[in-house]
Amino acid sequence: MEQIIILDFGSQYTQVIARRVRECQVFSQILRYDTPASKLAELQPSGIILSGGPCSVYDKKAPHCDAGLWQLGIPILGICYGMQLMAHQLGGKVQRGDKREYGPAEIAIEKDTTLFREMAYEQQVWMSHGDKVTKLPDGFKTIAKSGNSPFAVIADDSRQLYGLQFHPEVHHTPNGKQVLSNFIHGICRCGRNWTMKSFIERSIEDIRARVGKDKVLLGLSGGVDSSVAAALLHKAIGKQLLCVFVNNGVLRKGEAEGVQKLFGRGLGIHLHYEDATKVFLRRLKSVEDPERKRKIIGRTFVEVFDNAAKKAASKARGYRFLAQGTTYPDVIESIPIAGNPAAMIKSHHNVGGLPKKMRFELLEPLRQLFKDEVREVGAQLGLPKEIVWRQPFPGPGLAVRILGEVTAERIAVLQEADWIIIDEMKKADLYYKIWQTFAVLLPVKSVGVMGDERTYENAVAIRAVHSVDGMTADWVRLPYDLLAKLSTRIINEVKGVNRVTFDISSKPPATIEWE
Ligand code: XMP
Repeated sequence: MEQIIILDFGSQYTQVIARRVRECQVFSQILRYDTPASKLAELQPSGIILSGGPCSVYDKKAPHCDAGLWQLGIPILGICYGMQLMAHQLGGKVQRGDKREYGPAEIAIEKDTTLFREMAYEQQVWMSHGDKVTKLPDGFKTIAKSGNSPFAVIADDSRQLYGLQFHPEVHHTPNGKQVLSNFIHGICRCGRNWTMKSFIERSIEDIRARVGKDKVLLGLSGGVDSSVAAALLHKAIGKQLLCVFVNNGVLRKGEAEGVQKLFGRGLGIHLHYEDATKVFLRRLKSVEDPERKRKIIGRTFVEVFDNAAKKAASKARGYRFLAQGTTYPDVIESIPIAGNPAAMIKSHHNVGGLPKKMRFELLEPLRQLFKDEVREVGAQLGLPKEIVWRQPFPGPGLAVRILGEVTAERIAVLQEADWIIIDEMKKADLYYKIWQTFAVLLPVKSVGVMGDERTYENAVAIRAVHSVDGMTADWVRLPYDLLAKLSTRIINEVKGVNRVTFDISSKPPATIEWE
């Protein structure tokens, strides 16, 4: 398959570059900056993009690429640090900048080039760099200048090497996608073969070829990834797929019934429902520490899932494959370069994962896809909007939204409050526009008054955040009227709650979840 390879030098935007390439309907993959040229030659990409990065080419630990890259005869586009490295390794000069150029800039295009084909001669772009190129390597010419960068765009057409000092991948460069498209289609001569329709067709063939007459087990959580994996596998192998859905007792209200209704009765997927509420709650008794809660839930999940799988397997011939909804961001190796925020901000995803030493062979049909692509596959397979566009929900569920001890009563209180928030957000047409909105049950009681009586009851916090990937987040400025409605409904309808607060913290320094 035609592809563009992106070499990652630790930029926070590397995944954005890969996504932009795919939006141009060309497959892309991200590899480490030091991938040997021989390996790249084997992969035969149509083009290579060098990402930006937080280093200066002169730093002791600056990431350099294999010098053999420049001789491969494959078109290369260097972005920011990628361009500086290109200039540096090919004999040009890069100077440490005394001040950082950050923000919007205008570039003036002086020479015709395929990179800016059919584009205006003045372009607004986004800059974010300290160092700058001050002398071009032999064979290069200047294509565009900005007030601050005399070499804002450079090119050596004969070797098909191109450099951009600005970031075409970010939205702040309004025509950046056109520049990338011109590189990909105009210079690398890629077609438009990467579509989710073709992905689905290819995947179905691959899954059938690999699975043969064997059976596949899938842990269905009801989240986007495992749901789409289930729908895709079901389309490929029908009844050879068994989905196991574990109710851990800390799910949202109505979730267990909803999953059984949609996947079991609706789509006709072979589904095993395991209600393990009691065992989870027993093990969580008196536990207050968030990390202990996570560990207990993770471990118990593995145990319950394994038993359920054994039970299912004993009824029929054994299961050879275990399918997982792993997606591309889980697979990309992160580059531990100091200064790369993506490498510094810790996230604790997929805590409820499955055991490493498994008797199964792994099947990961969504391994190549970004989240937006997973959603499109789901939509094309006919999954409803409620599943395809649902908000992320942590593996340990409501347990990390109940501060302090998790009991059946406290779960019931939180489920009701949470359900009201989801309901009102949907009515306000905001639910699918926001990364996450949920309720948190606080470990405090406060005094209130209801009728003539004094109450002493729970406080609930409303959390609503915008985010792109969960790594950073900003709190959503919900309209006052909506907040008022949420507060009134929660206090009136949820027994045991007499106070509602609104969380106005961003991440960092707060986290999205409270635990
Ligand atoms: P934080 O709270 O770290 O959350 O800002 C970032 C994103 O990760 C989700 N999250 C989890 N997901 N297991 C998960 O599968 C967990 O233990 C977990 N903790 C947080 C959170 O909902 C948000 O989307």
